[in-house]
This record gives sequence, C-alpha cells and structure tokens, in this order.
Amino acid sequence: MLDESALIQKASEVRKIALALYSNFHVGAALITRNQKIYTGCNIESSSYGLTICAERVALFKALSEGERQFEAIAIVSDARELCPPCGACRQVLWDFARNITVIMANDYGDVQRIKLHELLPMAFDSAYLGGGIK
Ligand code: THU
Repeated sequence: MLDESALIQKASEVRKIALALYSNFHVGAALITRNQKIYTGCNIESSSYGLTICAERVALFKALSEGERQFEAIAIVSDARELCPPCGACRQVLWDFARNITVIMANDYGDVQRIKLHELLPMAFDSAYLGGGIK
C-alpha cells in the first residue's frame, strides 16, 4: 500500500540538496518501486545549462542503475507555490521505463495532485514503434 505522504516528504527533503545555482529552482523527486523501495533525486544544473538534469530523471536513473524495473509512483516537489509537473523530456523517459505510473505533484502548502502518466503524455512514442519491447 502506497504511503503517499512519506513519498512526498522524501521528495521535499531531497529538494533541499538540489544543485540549482543558475535557476535557483529546487526540485525533489521520490520514485517508489512496486516492492516499495524509494529512490530520490534532485535537479543538478551544469554551468553549460543544457547539460542540466531534472530531479525526476536522477531518481529514475538511480533506480534503473540499481536494477529496478517495476515502478509504482513518483512524487515531485519544488519550491514554487504552484505544483511542478514533469518536463517533456522526463515524461518521455518515465514512459520508456516506468510506463503508466502515478505522478504525484505536491508542494509545502499541502496541495497534492495525482495524475497517471498517460494523461500527461498522450500518444506517447515508445519502444513498441521500433518493433521491440522493454526487455
Ligand atoms: N526541473 C526539474 O528538476 N524537474 C521538473 O519537473 C521541472 C524542471 C529543473 C530543471 C532545472 O534545473 C530547473 O528545474 C529549472 O528548469
């Protein structure tokens, strides 16, 4: 059973160590696997701005590189008053590896919104179009 508030709390905490020198926009993500293991990530910005990586992909790549393949949900928390949705690049990569997971957007003011990834990325391109599948 998903402990949503614990997941949001983890995302909020990891946001505090974001390396966001240029945007000053701190984001934390907490990704939970189907067997309830949590991987966190924060955004990491490069002086060559385009090399920046979002919190969501850091969390996902950490999990994938530890062998995880089955995911349940990802929580995203930023500094902003408005809820922070995942960027287009993160939507694609999440779809590639976590398919239709639940995306939980939250802030420190108690607002929470849940949405399934397919609603954020309709008509997604994925490995099926390449004649393969996730191995
Ligand atoms: N960012 C994330 O980490 N996740 C999002 O969902 C939106 C944007 C980061 C990238 C960059 O470091 C900063 O926020 C401003 O775009």
